[in-house]
Amino acid sequence: MFNILILNGPNLNLLGTREKGIYGERTLAEIEDLIQEEAAKLHVSVTMMQSNHEGILIDNIQKANGVYDALIINPGAFTHYSYAIRDAVKSIDLPVVEVHLSNIHAREPFRRKSVTADVCAGQITGFGEYGYIMALYALSKRLLDEE
Ligand code: DQA
Repeated sequence: MFNILILNGPNLNLLGTREKGIYGERTLAEIEDLIQEEAAKLHVSVTMMQSNHEGILIDNIQKANGVYDALIINPGAFTHYSYAIRDAVKSIDLPVVEVHLSNIHAREPFRRKSVTADVCAGQITGFGEYGYIMALYALSKRLLDEE
């Protein structure tokens, strides 16, 4: 069974009340339930964590190495400027998929740039919470192919 870590960054704990027109109605706990249902179908074990703090996200990225088989990350606003998160992602030996609920390329100019995407295996943006599920499918397939 593959173990996949899903990390969510700042303000994603406010899903369900935060800018619902952009991020949708579901809370992070409800999104986790959806993800866990899909993970069970894929026979993948998923651990989810959220932090508003850059250092905590970095600690968890570093600790994921060797413990998990893959990482899915929504770095929130850190996506657009955190070279420290970029370096952490680059330093681990796991396939990483960057996910955004909204389509960052169709929003304000500062959101169109991701400093983390090019050190990830790929980026999924604009499909709401289903982005996490798409990432889960993509990573399970990749891990199975690598076996
Ligand atoms: C986000 C997009 C970011 O620009 C924003 O700062 C977020 C959420 C998304 O999932 O669409 O917090 O990562």
